[in-house]
Amino acid sequence: MLWRRCKEQLNRSEKELEELKKYTADLERIVSDKTRALEEAHMALQVLNIKLEVQKTHAEESKLRAKAANAAKSEFLSSMSHELRTPLNAIIGFSEILQDRYFGDLNERQADYIKDIWESGKHLLALINDVLDISKVEAGKMELDLSQVNISVLLLGSAAMIREKVVKHNITMRIAVSDDLETLTIAADEIKIKQVMFNLLSNAAKFTPDEGEISIKATKQDSIIRVTVADTGIGISPMELESIFDPFYQVSGGIKDKTPGTGLGLALSRRFIEMHGGQLWAESKGTGAGSTFIFTLSLRQITD
Ligand SMILES: Nc1ncnc2c1ncn2[C@@H]1O[C@H](COP(=O)(O)OP(=O)(O)OP(=O)(O)O)[C@@H](O)[C@H]1O
Ligand SMILES: [Mg+2]
Repeated sequence: MLWRRCKEQLNRSEKELEELKKYTADLERIVSDKTRALEEAHMALQVLNIKLEVQKTHAEESKLRAKAANAAKSEFLSSMSHELRTPLNAIIGFSEILQDRYFGDLNERQADYIKDIWESGKHLLALINDVLDISKVEAGKMELDLSQVNISVLLLGSAAMIREKVVKHNITMRIAVSDDLETLTIAADEIKIKQVMFNLLSNAAKFTPDEGEISIKATKQDSIIRVTVADTGIGISPMELESIFDPFYQVSGGIKDKTPGTGLGLALSRRFIEMHGGQLWAESKGTGAGSTFIFTLSLRQITD
């Protein structure tokens, strides 16, 4: 009896041992499978890492190449502009002398042609100066020449620059400067802010039909001066409110009989305002609904 029970027990233990062995073998297989999977994942990660490194190197190379190309472009534009300005100054200067009739009278046709030469020369010079300015700003070589500027006086002076054109086209011009700006001066680059105003006003005059209206407004809120140039002209579609600030961008189908431009004025103006720590943007209710250009100048940032 005892012997039978012992044998049974022994049989059970042997079976259990068998199962345990099988279980251990299964476990080992699972562990080995998982280890292999882990090793494969690790390898895949390493390959990915290498690929990423290669891509990073490519990206750095392209960045360096783009930087070098950009520097070469700026260098090229800068030297080309200087080369072009010398003969242009001769063209403009000599056509001025001829127009003044120092060396004798001109018949009507000659006077007409000389006027054309002079105007084209001036236009080309302005274009070259703008291209040079843009490339300077982009190369980070443009600097501000700061002095204490009275914005109210500057606005009146800018308005005077386009008065003749405005009168010729029967456009009404209004200026409203808030009282707290009358005596206030801020540190700014007078020539650049004037250039911005001249461009905004000549655009307003260019894109506003005869009998229209241009209004200039300046206000101060806390430490921010806000200048607005609004017109009752052809307006700008919502889709183009940002693109007009891209270099050379011009809306097709503008006013044909007024002097065409190059599309650099707004790009340059925005950069000049940003250099002062301000912002310049456009608003319009759409084509035909007039346009408003607004720029801000921060008192605190500029005087710092
Ligand atoms: N006041 C405005 N009303 C309607 N459209 C405008 C106005 N100002 C600018 N635009 C549009 O934005 C474009 C870009 O203006 P921007 O001043 O940069 O160039 P431009 O006046 O054409 O040439 P440039 O200023 O170089 O002589 C203009 O060609 C015009 O299509
Ligand atoms: Mg312009």
